[in-house]
Amino acid sequence: MRPSSPTPSSTRPSLAWCRPDLVLVVEQLRPKRHDRDGFACGEPTLDTYLRQQAAQHHRAGISTTHVLVDDTGPARILGYYSLSAAQLLLTELQEADRKRLPNYPVPAIRMGRLAVSTSAQVKGHGDTLVAHAVARCLGLRAQLSVRVLLVDALHEKAACFYRAYGFRDTSADTQSLYLPLGPP
Ligand SMILES: CC(C)(COP(=O)(O)OP(=O)(O)OC[C@H]1O[C@@H](n2cnc3c(N)ncnc32)[C@H](O)[C@@H]1OP(=O)(O)O)[C@@H](O)C(=O)NCCC(=O)NCCS
Repeated sequence: MRPSSPTPSSTRPSLAWCRPDLVLVVEQLRPKRHDRDGFACGEPTLDTYLRQQAAQHHRAGISTTHVLVDDTGPARILGYYSLSAAQLLLTELQEADRKRLPNYPVPAIRMGRLAVSTSAQVKGHGDTLVAHAVARCLGLRAQLSVRVLLVDALHEKAACFYRAYGFRDTSADTQSLYLPLGPP
């Protein structure tokens, strides 16, 4: 992670992150608790997803959505990411990452969406959410083999954001990038 990434507190629940100025918590989206309508990140598709589809997709077993809130306003969504199971072709990995892997689809977790509220951007929350998603994926590997974290960048600017964390371009003709998680 980038040097500014916060470190998880060992004295709080695993989903809480401490910074000197506030306590940040990542929790599963709960429509009755979190103000989805108040969220706007500058990308309408990501706002609409959170408002209209995220909870529905969770109920349907399509994806889970995790929201970032702070202790001063637990209903206000500062940012969110969503995760689902995925796979990619071995040939979509860069050559160096294919070594010693069998010629099977590569098990992956897709972070299908990542967004930070416009009013909360450029404060390190995107960084916190990426770090949190990666930590969650690493934690899952004890029970379920997963080799990479996959993201679909909306545009080149977003792809640059991900590359700074070590995400690599897939060979697919898309804006998909992956972060190797290594063997368990
Ligand atoms: C991209 C986004 C999630 C970043 O969140 P953020 O909280 O503003 O980012 P942070 O403050 O944690 O910044 C982390 C780093 O990313 C850089 N960064 C921030 N926004 C960026 C962007 N749009 N493109 C490229 N880099 C970006 C910051 O400069 C910072 O780099 P540094 O640590 O070297 O200074 C946020 O701008 C957003 O939600 N944008 C709209 C939706 C979107 O584009 N989502 C991307 C997924 S497709």
